[in-house]
Amino acid sequence: MIKIENVSKTYGSGVKAVDSVTLDIPDGAIFGFLGPNGAGKTTLIKMITGIIHADQGNILVDGTNIRTNPIEAKLKIGFVPDDPNMFLRLKGLEYLNFMADMYDVPKAGRSNDIKTLTERFGMQDALGDQMQSYSHGMRQKMILIGALIHKPKVWILDEPMTGLDPKSSFELKEMMREHADQGNVVFFSTHVLEVAEKVCDQIAVINKGKILYSGSLKDMRKSAQEDSSLEKIFLEMTENG
Ligand SMILES: Nc1ncnc2c1ncn2[C@@H]1O[C@H](COP(=O)(O)OP(=O)(O)O)[C@@H](O)[C@H]1O
Ligand SMILES: [Mg+2]
Repeated sequence: MIKIENVSKTYGSGVKAVDSVTLDIPDGAIFGFLGPNGAGKTTLIKMITGIIHADQGNILVDGTNIRTNPIEAKLKIGFVPDDPNMFLRLKGLEYLNFMADMYDVPKAGRSNDIKTLTERFGMQDALGDQMQSYSHGMRQKMILIGALIHKPKVWILDEPMTGLDPKSSFELKEMMREHADQGNVVFFSTHVLEVAEKVCDQIAVINKGKILYSGSLKDMRKSAQEDSSLEKIFLEMTENG
C-alpha cells in the first residue's frame, strides 16, 4: 500500500506540478496513473521514491514514511525511471551486481535470479556488453531487471512500456499481474490509454497537478456514457479540467 496525503510540489520556476494530491494505492492491484504530458505524473513519482521532497503532505510506502525513514522505505521500492540512459559505461552484468550490492542482496542465489530475469527479457546475451552499446529498449529492460533484483514489494514504474518491443512489453505486463496477484503493489504511469485499459485494476487520472478521477475503470465507465471509450472519457476529463 502506498498512502499519499495532501501532497503538493511547486518547482522553482513557479509551476505547481502536483497540487494537493491524495491517493491510496492498494496491495494486490495494478494501479495505473494516467495523464497527458506535463500533468505531474513524474513529479509525484519522484516524491514517492524520495528523489525530491514534497512541499507539503505525507507519503507512506508500505507503512514507512519516505521523508523521515528514507532508507527503509527505499529498500521496499523497485523503481524504473522514465529515462533509462544511465550507468552507460557499465556492462549489463556489472550494473546488475552494482544494484544488488546497493540493495544488500546476498551473493548466494544472485546469479540464479539474474539468469531468470535476463532470460525472461531476452537479455542474457547482452550481459557482457557495455550498456552504451544497447538500444533504448535494451537499456530499459536492463534498468527494469536491476530494479527488481532485490525483490521489492512495491513496484513504481514511470512509463515502463514506452520503447519496449511487443514480447518484452507482454512479459512485463505478465510480471506486473503476477506481482499484484501475490498481494504486492504495482504502480505505473502511462499516457497510453490502450495499455491502461488492458492491464489496470484501478486508475487515477491527473491533469495540471490535480487528481480528476481515482477508482476502478469500471466505475469510471459507469459514470460516463455507457458506450464511451476510455479515450473519449479521458479527453473530456482532461480538456474540461
Ligand atoms: N525540474 C523541473 N523544474 C521545473 N519544472 C518542472 C520540472 N520537472 C517538471 N516540471 C514541470 O512540471 C509539470 C509536470 O511535469 P511532469 O511531472 O514531468 O509531468 P508528466 O510526467 O505527467 O509528463 C510540467 O509543467 C513540467 O514542465
Ligand atoms: Mg513523466
